[in-house]
Amino acid sequence: MRNFIIAGNWKMNTTPTTGVELARSISDHIPPHTGVKVLLFPPATHLSHFQQEFNEADFEYGGQNVHWENSGAYTGEFSPEMLLELGCKWVIVGHSERRKFFGETDQSVNKRLLNTLNSSLSPILCIGETLTERESNLTYEVLERQIKVALENLTDENAERLVVAYEPVWAIGTGHTATTDQAQEAHHFIRNVLAQCFSGELANNIVVQYGGSVNAGNALELMSCPDVDGALIGGASLKPDEFIRIIEIADSLGG
Ligand code: PGA
Repeated sequence: MRNFIIAGNWKMNTTPTTGVELARSISDHIPPHTGVKVLLFPPATHLSHFQQEFNEADFEYGGQNVHWENSGAYTGEFSPEMLLELGCKWVIVGHSERRKFFGETDQSVNKRLLNTLNSSLSPILCIGETLTERESNLTYEVLERQIKVALENLTDENAERLVVAYEPVWAIGTGHTATTDQAQEAHHFIRNVLAQCFSGELANNIVVQYGGSVNAGNALELMSCPDVDGALIGGASLKPDEFIRIIEIADSLGG
């Protein structure tokens, strides 16, 4: 049984002060006793404030990136231990913006993922094809490569904490969401590739979120797809009313 995960990726938005305000306005309106897991990914500068303010909140939070080593001369990076000490339970690994702007590769994503799973953090692994790749009919080849390289040397045991987010790059921040057919087909394919990497039972239990221009207007149809288990949300997660509405929709679909 997979529960919905609704995650807000704030990217490089808000300051520590306005971020705490935003998180509070979300936290205050999360439906009580929901089966939906709510996650927030603020910038790293906010995390110690989150630890002070949201220890008891109905959401969990995490970092937008993590390194493959635990310490050393890696300017600008941080380790799982650093995130854990600030109360993080989660981390995003391999977001397409990290791949595009910061040289992240399938191999470095694999290393970051392995180090995450060596700690007690849970990763959201982001995968997705570019527009050129989709138009060249390479979508499934790309997804399969991204998954298989990222998951190299993972075991059934440590992969229990893995979450995957399918985020077609052409849908991120563009307002062009995948159709329900495109999303369901990709998610179904991803689940089949996961079943080649892990036991069938584990593959069936891994949450696969959709991401890319999800908003309160399209969340219902996207999350009604049988293999879509929630959403990773950028722009709409900065608007508390809209983000809460998406959580309510997931809740209405059974949590
Ligand atoms: P978006 O971003 O919702 O603004 O498209 C999604 C993401 O990058 O995770």
